Amino acid sequence: MLMMGIETSCDETAVAIVADDRKVLSNIIFSQLDEHRQFGGVVPEIAARSHLQNLPHVMKTALKAAGVEFGDIDGVAATAGPGLIGGVMVGLMAAKAISLTHRIPFSAVNHMEAHALTPRLTDNVDFPYLALLMSGGHTQFVAVSGPNKYKLLGTAIDDAIGEAFDKVAVLLGLPYPGGPAVEEAATNGDPDAFPLPRPLLGRPNCDFSFSGLKTAVRKLTEGEDINLANIQTVYNVAATFQKAASDVVIDRVKFAIKIFRRNFSNNFTLVAAGGVASNMTLRQALSDIAEEKALKFVAPPPKLCTDNGAMVAWAGIERIRIGLLDSLEFAPRPRWPLDGKTIRKE
Ligand code: KG4
Ligand code: ZN
Repeated sequence: MLMMGIETSCDETAVAIVADDRKVLSNIIFSQLDEHRQFGGVVPEIAARSHLQNLPHVMKTALKAAGVEFGDIDGVAATAGPGLIGGVMVGLMAAKAISLTHRIPFSAVNHMEAHALTPRLTDNVDFPYLALLMSGGHTQFVAVSGPNKYKLLGTAIDDAIGEAFDKVAVLLGLPYPGGPAVEEAATNGDPDAFPLPRPLLGRPNCDFSFSGLKTAVRKLTEGEDINLANIQTVYNVAATFQKAASDVVIDRVKFAIKIFRRNFSNNFTLVAAGGVASNMTLRQALSDIAEEKALKFVAPPPKLCTDNGAMVAWAGIERIRIGLLDSLEFAPRPRWPLDGKTIRKE
């Protein structure tokens, strides 16, 4: 089965062609970074217009790179939410039109589901597994028992981890997008240079809070004793923040593992996915804790952690091959909790 996957929920216009034997035939990503950089963040209206303008070309490029034509595709999947409504509508309508014209199944994919299933595309991870999803809008633990069988175990009660990275980057005058810039700056910094809080540390659940940490960084950077004109200071704040974020994540992971072991399975794979999972410090810390707890650890390569079409195509394959088809009436869902129930600020 060959699947086209379309991702337009944020600022990447992405299309991929993926086969059900887990081969990624093409994975084309057009990043709108240059269009949003001057605003210091994603501007929804600009993003939607850019998706509209670029999607046809990205689609053609993905087909060509895979060496196939529309007639060779057996199904089409698109992100139907959560995300910026304008962009989601563009990708979803394109997928529906392709499905209708070429008489192939259509799959409406949840963006976080696509992140959560990526480790099955890259490493064929067995169900059930524990997924830590970390992106610009979400931080959550999900028990993944099968396609469409997701249970949210914990989530961010305020800012998402990616949002915290992005905001800290702004405070430090680092370029957009913030996450990779903070990671790079942190490489040269001292992670113990300043005292920073570790919110929710030790709480017996696996929810996250990053807003207090972000505020602490803001207070630190506004303090009288600090000189951000000194680049080493910038590196040190970045490293201190990254270490604090990592400590919080690892503490929460310990509880998530306990909860997963109690309710799902004793022996499983710990998975990390989503844009922030491309952060090497976090990956190392997660790999270490998995080893300590005698678990396997899998994180997709960074290019499949940040938004892409391959993850959407793969989620479509997982769904369609067990008969989960979606109707062309499927409406975009700007907010769409993975388990269909929990509605909280994430
Ligand atoms: O999954 P993603 O590409 O898009 C969303 O679904 O939101 O995640 C984007 C987030 C942004 O906040 C970005 O700054 C963060 O992932 N990010 C990183 C790194 N690469 C991307 N955060 C920390 N370190 C990185 N290397
Ligand atoms: Zn994402």
